[in-house]
Amino acid sequence: MSDIDEAIHDFLVDAAALRSGGRVIDLGCGKGPTLAAFARRHPQARLIGLDRSAASLMAGKGLLSGHQGGVALAVADLAGRLPLPDRCVDAAVTYNVMECLADPVALLGEIARVLRPGGRAVLAHVDFDSLVIAGAGRDLDRRVCHAFTDDRQPWMDHADGRIGRKLPGLVSASPLILERAVPWVVSSTELTGHAARRVESIRQALNSAADKGRGRVSRPETEAWYQALQLAAEQERFFLAETAVVVTARA
Ligand SMILES: C[S@@+](CC[C@H](N)C(=O)[O-])C[C@H]1O[C@@H](n2cnc3c(N)ncnc32)[C@H](O)[C@@H]1O
Repeated sequence: MSDIDEAIHDFLVDAAALRSGGRVIDLGCGKGPTLAAFARRHPQARLIGLDRSAASLMAGKGLLSGHQGGVALAVADLAGRLPLPDRCVDAAVTYNVMECLADPVALLGEIARVLRPGGRAVLAHVDFDSLVIAGAGRDLDRRVCHAFTDDRQPWMDHADGRIGRKLPGLVSASPLILERAVPWVVSSTELTGHAARRVESIRQALNSAADKGRGRVSRPETEAWYQALQLAAEQERFFLAETAVVVTARA
């Protein structure tokens, strides 16, 4: 994991403003990078993570082993009622998960239920429609970015690549009280680290969609785009930027 990947998780920890020894829940914790950031900063915090991928939770258990304050990771579907009592956590975070939910406001309602009064929610998501890529030229870069934004990958029940910008409005439609919404921007002039992983994930998603006959960009076009980006990087013309929207709210 690169520094810019790490940095967003530290930013989420700052935004949560967890009190010493508090309890935090990460909804869709995956392999646990955000909980690991909490563990570094709050050694006494009780860490709770929910995800429906048992394999990711297993990786998270390894990452978080030895945390003093205690860790509880459990398989759960965020589309339903959370397996927690009312008012039991001080902070709730979710990063890059809500695009997968058909009814994200229902999850916000559940977050409001499990937060203690005054507890903070930190809701963050990359807005994929904000991807800025310079590499293959206007038309192909645009088509690839838009196709990726609108793609629903096999592990998703639902996909909304524009959910980042919608988060403030979704919070306003929920029982949570909106505090602020700020952008978190990462950028790179090199096709390495996070930028290389993002480009590779776009390539794999579009090729997989094309192979299943539901792609908006053909495999040869995606491969031409990928090669053009490699050349642009060699010629120092490559640029990638993406924006996550980070919303804080109160119960
Ligand atoms: C892009 S990953 C982000 C994981 C983690 N938050 C991170 O920052 O690395 C999305 C995660 O959401 C989980 N997920 C998607 N839909 C879910 C659902 N309905 N219930 C529970 N977890 C879900 C996936 O299993 C995956 O771990």
